[in-house]
Amino acid sequence: MAFERVKGNLACDGVSLAELAERHGTPLYVYSGETLLANIRRLHGGFRDLNPLIAFSIKANSNLAIIRLAVREGCGLDIVSVGELQRALRVGVDPGKIIFAGVGKTDDEISQAIQAGIGMFNVESTGEIAMIDSAAKRLGRRTGIALRVNPNVKADTHKYITTGTTENKFGIDFALIDSAIEAVKAAEAVDLVGLHCHIGSQILDANPYRLAAERLGEVVDRLREQGLDITHINFGGGHGIAYEEGQTALDPAQVAEAIQPTVKRLGIQPILEPGRSLAGPAGVFLTCVINVKRGVAKTFVIVDGAMNDLLRPSLYSAHHRVTPVSDVARGNTRTEVDIVGPVCESGDFLAKDRLLPLPEAGDLLAVLDAGAYGMVMASNYNSRPRAAEILVLDGEAHVVRRRETMDDLLTLESIPHTLR
Ligand code: LLP
Repeated sequence: MAFERVKGNLACDGVSLAELAERHGTPLYVYSGETLLANIRRLHGGFRDLNPLIAFSIKANSNLAIIRLAVREGCGLDIVSVGELQRALRVGVDPGKIIFAGVGKTDDEISQAIQAGIGMFNVESTGEIAMIDSAAKRLGRRTGIALRVNPNVKADTHKYITTGTTENKFGIDFALIDSAIEAVKAAEAVDLVGLHCHIGSQILDANPYRLAAERLGEVVDRLREQGLDITHINFGGGHGIAYEEGQTALDPAQVAEAIQPTVKRLGIQPILEPGRSLAGPAGVFLTCVINVKRGVAKTFVIVDGAMNDLLRPSLYSAHHRVTPVSDVARGNTRTEVDIVGPVCESGDFLAKDRLLPLPEAGDLLAVLDAGAYGMVMASNYNSRPRAAEILVLDGEAHVVRRRETMDDLLTLESIPHTLR
């Protein structure tokens, strides 16, 4: 059912978005439980011959209700901080299905994760192997690691979210793998269980996955020649979604087909850590029109949602489709508008140069595909309390994060007594 119109009015799994906005206010994030589940099942379906572990990348959406739903559906969780570790543990995931990635894990984070009994660390450098080894020894435990290999494969995506080339900070360069292998051999309390790569985000073509798989396959061969064996290859996330009209989301079955020869040849279990493709299409960001301002060159639709709520357009010039919640109210004539927020920055916009039936103050707009990297990247800039989040599950709407209040924002601050 997802986000469909019922008599011209947009609904989430059958629940009217206008009613949710009325009851909970705007700006508001609304998630479709059905869409999240459908996306997980589609991924499982596409990979069914390969028996993957799907570790939902909770950096994309770490709301407890969302990650609980993914865990109930059998997912493990991909985390990048001790904060995310605590969220993961809070929703009762099997710790063995937690994968801890990230380029700068601290000693404290490593120790907490070892104590929690996580499945494995994705290791980003030779130095980190030694850090994890000494933490494990200190705790009297063993822990699993996967070497994050930078396969130097270029995926066609935004320069800030490409990760798989030698130009960026992630992973161990392909040419430096041998020294990492030496570090693994020298370690006493770590077990090398896998290799990992993540070649970028919002990738719409399966071919880079094939290339990365082949390169990682060569590393596995090298390991096996040296008597080291692994059981897993983590192919990262990055599966792109259709943000724009006319785009086609990357089909999981195509990614499965691309990596299959390597996986079958090596007899390993693939791990996937998608974020966006599971959560992105499962969320909309609802915002209400404050005013319509006609300038000389442009018409601005000023809304109550802003870059502090949904940063992607400002930060990456990312395109999100925007649609009126009611498509009956304003007829069919379209006007070119910029949809902008109230934050004091020219870069504060949700969409530019869009053709929309010209809205009026009080109208609701839905920004689509906002379920990933939306709320998680929100801030309090301009002292704006963060939006509430709603999850619709089995036809029922649940507040899964209440709207922040000014008290929430001010409670951490104090004025020195000498200034009082
Ligand atoms: N695994 C690793 C190691 C990652 O770095 C990422 C994302 C993922 C998995 C999940 O990737 P996904 O399936 O969601 O593409 N804030 C940006 C995206 C940053 C992605 C960072 N890494 C955005 O809004 O587009």
